[in-house]
Amino acid sequence: MSGIVEGRVVIVTGAARGIGRGHALEFARQGAKVVVNDLGAEVDGTGSSGAAAEVVAEIEAMGGRAVVNGEDVSDFDGAERLVRAAIDHFGDLDVLVNNAGILRDRMLVNMTADEWDSVIKVHLRGTFAPLRHAAAYWRSKAKAGEQVDARIINTTSSSGIYGNPGQGNYGAAKAGIAGLTVIAARELERYGVTVNAVAPAALTRMTENLLPAGATGADPDDIAPLVVWLASAEARAITGRVFNVRGGRISVAEGWHAGPGADKGSRWDPAELGAVVPALVDKAAPNALTNGRIPGRED
Ligand SMILES: NC(=O)c1ccc[n+]([C@@H]2O[C@H](COP(=O)([O-])OP(=O)(O)OC[C@H]3O[C@@H](n4cnc5c(N)ncnc54)[C@H](O)[C@@H]3O)[C@@H](O)[C@H]2O)c1
Repeated sequence: MSGIVEGRVVIVTGAARGIGRGHALEFARQGAKVVVNDLGAEVDGTGSSGAAAEVVAEIEAMGGRAVVNGEDVSDFDGAERLVRAAIDHFGDLDVLVNNAGILRDRMLVNMTADEWDSVIKVHLRGTFAPLRHAAAYWRSKAKAGEQVDARIINTTSSSGIYGNPGQGNYGAAKAGIAGLTVIAARELERYGVTVNAVAPAALTRMTENLLPAGATGADPDDIAPLVVWLASAEARAITGRVFNVRGGRISVAEGWHAGPGADKGSRWDPAELGAVVPALVDKAAPNALTNGRIPGRED
């Protein structure tokens, strides 16, 4: 197999099905060696099955190279074993795609602490832990004078960066992943590592109950081309960015920035702010809708 990531060693987490499966297969088609990680969980994170082995078999059937890994990405030591598995099996690690995720949707007034913690753990710690161990590996390579051209691609969501009622736990985790992406990009640039994120939209078991009856969603395999390109040598200059992807449409998510402001030069009296804050909010761009669009603006 040859392609734009020829010979690169790639970990894709949550790669047994849905969007992650599409990533693993496209990486293999484009010449990468793939660690297919998946715990085999149900949508809510419970249970485990061996579905990742089927993806490895598919890759091998097309003449590619892949190995299965069943670690829980949110287990700090398990994430270290995952990174080690890539290095032990394929001799190196070039790309980490953090894709694994679960859902436990609930309106905030009814949400349990367990629903909150489990979603935050799988997404946020499950992104941090592999990132942390991969980054330490790349730093030690860079310090030893080796050339590093590595990639981390995280998975956020419109739920987190724009907001979606009913997904307070998931959205908070996904907003955290977007913030972590920006910080990690700045920390790891010096070691030759770029860090970006995608906010995908696709019809998978995770979204089938969220779409109106009869609605057709975009194919989960539509997300992989951008992720694979971001993992390639051509994307070396792009870091700290979040991309929306749905079907054939790709857009750059523009982040928070300091908008209209006022400076009194000393501490405000709360009673003064009624004449200040509403005017600032009027001047500021409105928050985007859940679909990422700012009302009245065509992008
Ligand atoms: N489908 C969409 O429209 C959409 C939208 C926004 C974001 N996302 C994100 O994309 C990613 C993939 O979602 P999907 O729609 O393909 O869902 P999916 O349920 O089909 O796939 C998620 C995979 O992650 C695995 N997984 C769960 N917990 C794990 C853990 N602790 N360790 C290892 N693997 C684990 C599951 O077993 C599953 O195979 C998720 O991060 C999701 O939040 C999806």
